[in-house]
Amino acid sequence: MEIEKKISDSVIDMVELVLPNDVNLLNNLKGGTLMHWIDIAAALTASKHSNHIVATVAMDSLDFKHPIKLGEMVRLVATMVSVGNTSMKIKVEVWAENLQTGSVIMTNEANLVFVALDDNGRPVRVPRLIEG
Ligand SMILES: CC(C)(COP(=O)(O)OP(=O)(O)OC[C@H]1O[C@@H](n2cnc3c(N)ncnc32)[C@H](O)[C@@H]1OP(=O)(O)O)[C@@H](O)C(=O)NCCC(=O)NCCS
Repeated sequence: MEIEKKISDSVIDMVELVLPNDVNLLNNLKGGTLMHWIDIAAALTASKHSNHIVATVAMDSLDFKHPIKLGEMVRLVATMVSVGNTSMKIKVEVWAENLQTGSVIMTNEANLVFVALDDNGRPVRVPRLIEG
């Protein structure tokens, strides 16, 4: 396995469309659905960096500053922030785009910690993180 990787090697840029099954009675994206998408984007970044199966061990507080509406496009960008021995901290930024007006608003930011696991589910060392 490579002993170091660049931040840019594992950036995930993920896009979702808010469909009727994703919204609450106000036609706003459900918080749990957004948390699921954030978890997936961050897990992909952690997997790309480590080339291992990963498990979520922590997610910091998540503020919902702007509702995301039915029919809007949601962009999630997940980026490695730092690594420990077996753990990886990942930041996910979320933007909502109204496809009728073209307006784009940053709606959320979250930090998550993942651990890389070997085939027996035990924590395994991850590559160092370098700028670039
Ligand atoms: C992931 C897991 C195997 C780690 O086992 P563990 O016995 O806690 O292992 P360790 O104590 O050695 O911790 C491993 C790393 O995670 C870090 N860590 C553990 N809990 C953490 C937390 N709440 N916040 C931040 N980091 C944490 C440790 O600091 C350590 O980091 P390092 O190796 O970079 O120094 C175990 O916690 C687990 O199975 N958790 C459940 C995961 C899960 O089901 N997630 C949801 C579905 S993916």
